Amino acid sequence: MPRPPQDPFIPLAKPVREVPDGSIAALRRKARACHACPLWKPATQTVFGDGPADADVMLIGEQPGLHEDREGEPFVGPAGHVLDRALAEAGLDRGALYMTNTVKHFKYEQRGTAKLHKRASAAEQAACRMWLAAELARVRPKIVIALGAMAAQTLFGNTFRLTRERGEWRQLGEHARGMATWHPSAILRGRERSAEMYRQLVEDLRSIARQR
Ligand code: URA
Repeated sequence: MPRPPQDPFIPLAKPVREVPDGSIAALRRKARACHACPLWKPATQTVFGDGPADADVMLIGEQPGLHEDREGEPFVGPAGHVLDRALAEAGLDRGALYMTNTVKHFKYEQRGTAKLHKRASAAEQAACRMWLAAELARVRPKIVIALGAMAAQTLFGNTFRLTRERGEWRQLGEHARGMATWHPSAILRGRERSAEMYRQLVEDLRSIARQR
């Protein structure tokens, strides 16, 4: 039976039509065969969330990149390495967190032998949202962290601005608290601002301990 989208453990600002039910392992299996948008075709595989099904903290990124597409796990490429370093500096154990993405397939443009990352469209994000909703409904995290604007707007709505509202804790439905911070890829692209953005990411991750 699919879950009702108004489940109080699904604190998403954007609509979800139908939410698949089942354990995280069952959801991961079902998502492997997802054809809800065209991204499944060129991608190597679905990159579902990873981590304990009873984690109290969920981190939500944007979409898998080249490395995640190959390995089938979230945040295992260069952005993941930045995130791992920031988590360690903030005193957080990655293995205790549930990590996932807003969109579960790699989207890219082929240029010769290179696969250039492309942002998922609003329609592709909407098609994929049922999986994020299902993960939230199953894991029921007390703390939800959006990494980057795509995840932030999925949680808090399209008017959310990371530059203005980064690091601000809010109530998310009845059961969770949430916050958005820099995406590690933005830090990698941040040039002269990247040291400052990295420091803010670590500071934001440190503030999780005060919400637990
Ligand atoms: N960027 C993301 O948003 N997620 C990943 O898993 C990797 C890079």
